[in-house]
Amino acid sequence: MEQQLKQLEQEALAKIEVASNLKELNEVRVAYLGKKGPITDLLKGMGKLSPEERPKMGALVNTVRENVTEKLEQKVAQLEELAIQEQLEKEAIDVTLPGRPVRIGNRHPLTRVVEEIEDLFIAMGYEVAEGPEVEKDYFNFEALNLPKGHPARDMQDTFYITEETLLRTHTSPVQARTMLEKNGEPFRIICPGKVFRRDNDDATHSHQFMQIEGLVVGENIRMSDLKGTLNTMAKKMFGEEREIRLRPSFFPFTEPSVEMDISCFKCGGSGCNVCKHTGWIEILGAGMVHPNVLEMGGYDPKKYSGFAFGMGVERIAMLKYGVEDIRHFYTNDNRFVSQFHRTEG
Ligand code: DAH
Repeated sequence: MEQQLKQLEQEALAKIEVASNLKELNEVRVAYLGKKGPITDLLKGMGKLSPEERPKMGALVNTVRENVTEKLEQKVAQLEELAIQEQLEKEAIDVTLPGRPVRIGNRHPLTRVVEEIEDLFIAMGYEVAEGPEVEKDYFNFEALNLPKGHPARDMQDTFYITEETLLRTHTSPVQARTMLEKNGEPFRIICPGKVFRRDNDDATHSHQFMQIEGLVVGENIRMSDLKGTLNTMAKKMFGEEREIRLRPSFFPFTEPSVEMDISCFKCGGSGCNVCKHTGWIEILGAGMVHPNVLEMGGYDPKKYSGFAFGMGVERIAMLKYGVEDIRHFYTNDNRFVSQFHRTEG
């Protein structure tokens, strides 16, 4: 019996040694130590032994069980260690790989122009104002002296949400909104924003574009104030040598109304392709705020006056940076946008 036990032990230990996974080890455990295993069988046969032999054999069986169990536990630990090693190797990251470069973006040219103009006007005491892109017919037209059915509305056809709500066609509605907000106090604002028109897109037209509006309301605001302000802006934006010219024009919300041209920055006025050989480049519309507009905004036109101007941001950016097609601003092509990276501070 002792012999048999020794042999079983050897067998079990050998099988444990060659087992390559936990499942195999468990099979060995069940086969040798389980209830139906040979060691249990041997224990059952102990009754047949003499009383002197029994404790000796009992001790021996226990030793064998302990040895096999110990060996099993060692092997389990070994296999688990191996599995961890394998996993670590599989999941290892090579920290010597170079990192992915972070691409630093740059400002869109339209943002640049807007910020430049904002800075200039903030320095002159203006506040930056904003208004909604989905606007009331009332603010977009009526409060700007363009009642329903006014023929000048035709030039600014747009996308209507309802009869009374639309995508704003210009930033001028912010004028009407700000006047109500300021409640009779004098103020100066500059307001950039997106505007929309029903237009067929081509190199110079876009159904969505940007404008910047300016409005000053107070006592004794005169045409000369407007002219001085526009002159300062033209020089800052297009160079100290620029001259401005005001031409009479018409806008329902200003009286008198003007259009401002600057002397051509390419040829200096002698005539070239940029100024279409006129020496002058049209930049914006402006004028003295119409008394009706002041009144609708809650300002007494006998006491208060004001000037206003509005310009297209794309047009300024196209002139400044020599962009030939307005659609470039909207194609999201990084090759276009990144060209404006280092052109100025
Ligand atoms: N809102 C005009 C447009 O979109 C531009 C404009 C002209 C704005 C004269 C003004 C202004 O404030 O005084 O065509």
